[in-house]
Amino acid sequence: MRKVIKGGTVVTADLSYAADVAIEGDMIVEIGQNLQGNEVLDATGCYVMPGGIDPHTHLEMPFMGTYSADDFESGTRAALSGGTTMVVDFCLPNPDQSLLEALQMWDNKTSLASTDYSFHMAITWWGEQVFEEMAEVVDRGITSFKHFMAYKGALMVNDDEMFASFQRCAALGALPLVHAENGDVVAAMTAKLLAEGNNGPEGHAYSRPPEVEGEATNRAIMIADMAGVPLYVVHTSCEQSHEAIRRARQKGMRVYGEPLIQHLVLDETEYFNPDWDHAARRVMSPPFRNKMHQDSLWAGLQAGSLSCVATDHCAFTTEQKRNGVGNFAKIPNGTGGLEDRLPVLWTAGVNTGRLTPNEFVAVTSTNIAKILNMYPKKGAVMVGADADLVVWDPKRTKTISAGRQQSVIDYNVFEGFEVTGLPRFVLTRGKVSIVENEVKTEPGHGKFVAREARNPVNRALSQWKEIVAPRKVERTGIPATGV
Ligand code: URP
Ligand code: ZN
Ligand code: ZN
Ligand code: ZN
Repeated sequence: MRKVIKGGTVVTADLSYAADVAIEGDMIVEIGQNLQGNEVLDATGCYVMPGGIDPHTHLEMPFMGTYSADDFESGTRAALSGGTTMVVDFCLPNPDQSLLEALQMWDNKTSLASTDYSFHMAITWWGEQVFEEMAEVVDRGITSFKHFMAYKGALMVNDDEMFASFQRCAALGALPLVHAENGDVVAAMTAKLLAEGNNGPEGHAYSRPPEVEGEATNRAIMIADMAGVPLYVVHTSCEQSHEAIRRARQKGMRVYGEPLIQHLVLDETEYFNPDWDHAARRVMSPPFRNKMHQDSLWAGLQAGSLSCVATDHCAFTTEQKRNGVGNFAKIPNGTGGLEDRLPVLWTAGVNTGRLTPNEFVAVTSTNIAKILNMYPKKGAVMVGADADLVVWDPKRTKTISAGRQQSVIDYNVFEGFEVTGLPRFVLTRGKVSIVENEVKTEPGHGKFVAREARNPVNRALSQWKEIVAPRKVERTGIPATGV
């Protein structure tokens, strides 16, 4: 069975050209003119792009006394509906839990995934067992390790633990990730705000201003530099954090920043809405910022100092959010976006001239495929690549609305946003899963994507670090001691 996507313009991170794309089974087998096949997908007037990869999701995640509401079934269906064909989720061991046991638990959640998926492993505690098990985790194809510098008393790790883990990442050729906020300061400011009666959702934003994120980003960059390892900063939300990343990159350091689609288009005024539910539904960490920060994030995507746009999809229902009535610190942190990331970024980015279509592909798919060492299996339109493709109709429009979304929650933070640019077809490893508004996903089709450690950046960095490593000076004529 050969499918042909016909009459479209192939758009990759570096090229746009008219061509047909032929698919057999899971893979792209030919790209060229006038291709023939048993099934033809008409791409006239459309762009044929690598499917989106969302490097940051939390599906069915145990967090703040509850579980995020979208699981791998609804989450990957939402992803496909918006043109995303792969997600990378976070495996979170409990303190003292074996990493391998946690991995088994996360693996058990994925049986109904419709897209391919991978995991980042979180380092939530430190000890001999974690040190040992990290090697086994890497052998199983999970080569990125997340560190929470916030959520004190829960997921947070301290600097000594982070340095030990980053050094272990360097030795294994793995990539450390950080949630960069100063958890000690956030905890103290939260307690102070609550003591002063400042207990509404806006208190969440007051408790974690941009400086708190900027400091932690600088600290994580320094620790990565000392350990000789690249660094990926998740949900970069503000100029302070972006500035740290920009400066590090200018110095030649391998640091990647990941803004979220929410931070690019939604701002802090959401927290001042008089409707408690409205504000609480938007509580996430880091919180939404003001326009100056948004402009900084867009500039970073344009200049290349920020690398990938993600969602951090961690959806909670209004009822779950209401756990925090009277105490913002109990509002489960997280927002959705899996279905909306590509259409919103296209509308606010490409349709305004802030991004080219090629840059759009880079920041939604190709860059992360390279950073996570799965390119060109993923993130490419290339013979031999997985047929994870989106046939993108730049003229299709819709108004985002919770009533028509795939996510199981009862609201959408982008409610009312009019998008222009939507998928006509979405293929996941060759399977046509979306045909405009028709959802034809196949729960269970999604497979785990194992990744190799020691990608070229890790290897280059280790080589350089070895050359500039401290070396003892061999001296002659050492003075006698105790004279
Ligand atoms: O508020 C957020 N971002 N919730 C998900 C967990 C995390 O910090 O990424
Ligand atoms: Zn986070
Ligand atoms: Zn997250
Ligand atoms: Zn299948």
